[in-house]
Amino acid sequence: MKSKVTVIGAGNVGATTALMLSQTGIADVVLFDIAEGIPQGKALDIMQATPLSGLSVSCQGTNSYDLTAGSDIIVITAGFPRKPGMSRDDLLHANAQVIREVVTGTASLSPEGIYIVVTNPMDVMTLIAWEVCGFDYRRVLGMGGVLDSARFRTFISMELGVSPADVDGMVLGGHGDLMVPLPSFTTVNGIPLARLLTQNRTTTLIERTRNGGAEIVSLLKSGSAYYAPAASTVQMVRAILLDEKRILPCAAYLTGEYGNQGVFVGVPVLLGRGGAEKIIELPLTPAETTAFASSVEAVRAMLDTIQR
Ligand code: NAI
Ligand code: 2OP
Repeated sequence: MKSKVTVIGAGNVGATTALMLSQTGIADVVLFDIAEGIPQGKALDIMQATPLSGLSVSCQGTNSYDLTAGSDIIVITAGFPRKPGMSRDDLLHANAQVIREVVTGTASLSPEGIYIVVTNPMDVMTLIAWEVCGFDYRRVLGMGGVLDSARFRTFISMELGVSPADVDGMVLGGHGDLMVPLPSFTTVNGIPLARLLTQNRTTTLIERTRNGGAEIVSLLKSGSAYYAPAASTVQMVRAILLDEKRILPCAAYLTGEYGNQGVFVGVPVLLGRGGAEKIIELPLTPAETTAFASSVEAVRAMLDTIQR
């Protein structure tokens, strides 16, 4: 039987994820949103591209949770963008309510499903999704590290004038200003980054990575990034559905790994059909350990403001 993936939220990230996913041909896609007509219209548009790609998958849009039943993966991109006059806390509470609503609407219909949370602040929203669905924590993940790592890899490839495909790297921690790019685990086709780039230039690229989302927001003027976020989400979906056993940085529930527990935060995760099948513990330097701890603290501070 073909796999089924539901994408909740038919905005920029959700619709692009649905399109990119449909184009892989690995799953039927259901696109859900509360806005009437939007998921139906975008799904029909995506569906009309399938004959051109020679693919045998479907894409259906809906305002009803019923159509999401039996999903293997549920991607959550639903939420409010930050509006003028809205504080970070206001956004946090508004999106937390959206997560509660959509997880309540989907969990019992897809009891074997795996959640991938994209909505910001992602690490916090992932924990809320897990609490509401009550699934095994290995079946709830957040997307942020794949995107942050892709940005770091892109900036390195642009700096060195090499193919982005040859740059491998990892960004851990929360998907926020205190994320932790790891140059010591970054290589260019096996060559350690330190052999190709000075410490100064590496620091500049780390800062640009930390500011990667904001750089795009300031260029777009309204809205935030969605092509790379969607591609990152699809990479995770693919790794899970095809049981690829890829090691990707994702927000996963820590039970003592990296000296933390009771929180979802970005760590290297072995992704397969079971979801977060294993967390890989890397030997971090003292500076990286301190930076990771600060990033986790920032996530915990946001969690503390949310009534649960
Ligand atoms: P968008 O505003 O284009 O789309 C959001 C969609 O959510 C809208 O279509 C809206 O109707 C829908 N929505 C709102 N409440 C809903 C509900 N209760 N049920 C179903 N749908 C609902 O926003 P965009 O650009 O697609 O971003 C979505 C989220 O993803 C934002 O929170 C954004 O910050 C986050 N994001 C996270 C990234 C990451 O790396 N984790 C990367 C990029 C975006
Ligand atoms: C990004 O990093 C907004 O989280 C989003 O682009």
